[in-house]
Parts: sequence; C-alpha cells; structure tokens
Amino acid sequence: MGRVSGKVALVTGAGRGQGEAIAYLLAKEGAKVIATDINFDNVKKVVAKINTEFKESAIALHHEVASKDEWVKVVEEGVKKFGPITILVNNAGILAPCTYDLLTYEHWQKVMDVNAWSQFVGIQTVVPYMKQAGGGSIIDSASLSAINACGRFSAYTASKGAVDAFSRAAAIELAPFNIRVNCIVQGVIHTPMLDEVWPTKESTAEALAAQPLGRFGKAIDIGYLVVYLASDESCFTTGSSQVIDGGLSVQGGVRPVLER
Ligand SMILES: NC(=O)c1ccc[n+]([C@@H]2O[C@H](COP(=O)([O-])OP(=O)(O)OC[C@H]3O[C@@H](n4cnc5c(N)ncnc54)[C@H](O)[C@@H]3O)[C@@H](O)[C@H]2O)c1
Repeated sequence: MGRVSGKVALVTGAGRGQGEAIAYLLAKEGAKVIATDINFDNVKKVVAKINTEFKESAIALHHEVASKDEWVKVVEEGVKKFGPITILVNNAGILAPCTYDLLTYEHWQKVMDVNAWSQFVGIQTVVPYMKQAGGGSIIDSASLSAINACGRFSAYTASKGAVDAFSRAAAIELAPFNIRVNCIVQGVIHTPMLDEVWPTKESTAEALAAQPLGRFGKAIDIGYLVVYLASDESCFTTGSSQVIDGGLSVQGGVRPVLER
C-alpha cells in the first residue's frame, strides 16, 4: 500500500525537472497520475518510463496551462480515465529573466498568465471533482523569490508572490470542503530551468558556494515534499508556505567561511 494509493493526481509541467520527479514519486506511492505538459514529446517519455515500472498508472496529455479551455479539456479527459482528481500539483512555470528597464506589458502578462493565472484556473477547474470525491490536496509551486528579492526577475517574482498569496486565500475558502491548499517555496533546485539563471560554470560555482548545505536541491527533494502534502499524513496542514531551500533563506548577509 503506497502513501497515496487510491488517489488521482494531476501534475502540470511533468515533462521534465521537478514535475517529472513529482509524477514519478506519486505513481510509485500508488496514485494514478495525469501528467501534462506543453512539451508533449517530453511528457510522453516520462509517462512511458513510469508505466514501465508501475503498470498503467499514468497518462500523458498536452496542456497549455495558461488556457482555461485546455484546463477543462485535460481535466475532463483525466477524470474519464482515472475518476475524480484528488491531488492537483500546479508545478508548470517559466522563468523569463528580464531587467526591469526592458520589461513590457506583454512580457509581464505572459509570465503572470503562465505562472499565476494558470494555477488559479487549475484550482477552479479541479475543485468541483474534489468536492465530488469528498476532499483533496492542492499543491501550488511558488518560489523563494516570493519572499526574497531576486534581481532580473521582476515579473517572475511578482507571479510567485501572487501564487503564495492566493494559495492562502484558497486554503481558507476551500477548507469547509476538506480541500487543503499548500504552497511550495523552493530555493535553488537543479533542473534545466537553472541554465537560464547561471549559464556558465563560473556563475554556477559561485551560486553553489552560497548554499548552506553545499549543494543545490534535487527535483526528487521536491517530490518527497509533494508526496507528503498530497498524502493524508499532512491532513492538518493547509494554507502553509513550505520553504524547502537547504537553509538559503535563513542565512545572513555575512557568510563566514566554515570548516566542512
Ligand atoms: N528550479 C528552481 O530552482 C526553481 C526554484 C523555485 C521555483 N521553481 C518553480 O518550480 C516549478 C518547476 O520548475 P522546474 O525547475 O522543474 O523547471 P523546468 O523548466 O525544468 O520545467 C518546467 C516544465 O513546465 C513546462 N511548461 C512551461 N510552460 C508551460 C505552459 N505554458 N504550459 C504547460 N507546461 C509548461 C515545461 O515544458 C517544463 O516541462 C516552476 O513553477 C518553477 O517556477 C523552480
């Protein structure tokens, strides 16, 4: 018996990075997984791998998360296959770095649509099925940038602040229906997204040196947190912002050189 056996999960951005690890671990722990991504080739490969190990436990669907119409289509198809969704992992996101002086309305709106509106409309679409099932767990992906400053990422930072804030509002609004909503506040996680932040070996080494635990997070580190939040083990946890950053956010400005 897995930790999320009997549950049906929808994971967005499951084609690589954290979403891939989350989809894999949820299937490993017994959930049926609707894995979606705008990159259909990638998510098909992820699902093929999952189904090789855990027979018929996942399906892959093409999904543009910023589109309400696509949400409706994907959710209906997923429910038809596996039954009412009881776990929603709003993971898909884009970084789109841009200095403040070059930022346009179009850039701002695109980042807000993909990172924030997508997660809100995902909740709106899935909740009727969770109510039908008697409850559920929603896990939204924010970022440490929601609470810390992050230069060159104004729109990204604003979008993640929005996710962190509306997750709390949703938690209160949905609590009477036994639907929990929690938000992940990740530090630096080693996924392809990082290449956009530190494209060179030197910049990566510098960023690594600032990590209190001496390493970046792994996608699977986020997977373990998601399994906990998705499972009944976390049944009293809602409205929380789960910081998972290897200590990065509590480190002071002055970094003494410590012996390892
Ligand atoms: N990697 C980090 O250090 C880090 C830190 C904090 C927060 N996050 C957040 O974690 C989440 C996962 O990031 P990751 O590191 O795995 O990134 P990633 O770039 O490796 O993966 C993101 C996935 O989302 C998909 N995607 C992008 N736009 C989409 C769209 N419009 N519709 C559907 N799918 C789309 C991509 O195809 C990709 O498969 C994101 O929300 C990101 O903002 C990442």
